[in-house]
Amino acid sequence: MGILEVKNVSKRFGGLQALGDVNLSVAENTVHAIIGPNGAGKSTLLNCLIGKLIPDTGSVMFDGNSVLGRKPYEINQMGISRVFQTPEIFADLTVFENVMIPCFATRDGAFRMHALESVANEPDIVEQAETMLADVNMLDKRNVHAGSLSRGDKRRLEMAMCLSQQPKLLLLDEPTAGMARADTNNTIDLLKEIKDKRDITMCIIEHDMHVVFSLAERITVLAQGTPLVEETPENIKGHPKVREAYLGEAQV
Ligand SMILES: Nc1ncnc2c1ncn2[C@@H]1O[C@H](COP(=O)(O)OP(=O)(O)OP(=O)(O)O)[C@@H](O)[C@H]1O
Ligand SMILES: [Mg+2]
Repeated sequence: MGILEVKNVSKRFGGLQALGDVNLSVAENTVHAIIGPNGAGKSTLLNCLIGKLIPDTGSVMFDGNSVLGRKPYEINQMGISRVFQTPEIFADLTVFENVMIPCFATRDGAFRMHALESVANEPDIVEQAETMLADVNMLDKRNVHAGSLSRGDKRRLEMAMCLSQQPKLLLLDEPTAGMARADTNNTIDLLKEIKDKRDITMCIIEHDMHVVFSLAERITVLAQGTPLVEETPENIKGHPKVREAYLGEAQV
């Protein structure tokens, strides 16, 4: 039994079957990658895991509890955090303020922007935010406006915001999309460090096979909304069904 159990999940958008009959089991404290061509349904599946979409059928259980029908902040409180395909940060706040928000949001159980000033001097929140920034090597940028950060640093900041919520499961939707190779390698190192420092399960959607093979312990291949194969990285390489799914897009 995995920490995340997806059973018979399907999702339709009008006439389009975005997810067929998806079953997925993610074991605790592992890195599980979901790969597949553009439009395979990867982000749709992730959206079903974090309460952004409600599947038409099926169940999604996390740590023994259903996530379906819960609001995104309730799902955060259950221990699931998500890094989006495009970093979701507050461009007009500093790096430090961005990280403080989830620190106190987790404590108070609600997302309250107006409370930022009132917690700015609370030692436990400040200490927690500093720890999170140190974890992603961004303490030196604490007073920089988030909107002016490089793409790689925005991703790092978003990672710190997710980690502030002390997640048991971190969902990452293409965490290296649009990054140069150096930033991609930094992100791989960062994720490895996070994995070493905490009890955390990661579910990562990724097109870059270098990232997938550097991090993943299990890989699910999704094509046209249906899982084709679930395997170890060694067994995925050169798998005929994987080649078929990618139709020439493959790097496997
Ligand atoms: N809100 C929506 N309304 C209608 N169709 C949607 C919606 N969201 C996704 N789709 C469609 O569902 C299918 C799966 O999309 P999804 O974004 O899950 O793919 P993906 O595997 O994440 O692709 P990519 O690798 O390009 O990010 C696509 O055909 C997409 O156009
Ligand atoms: Mg996507």
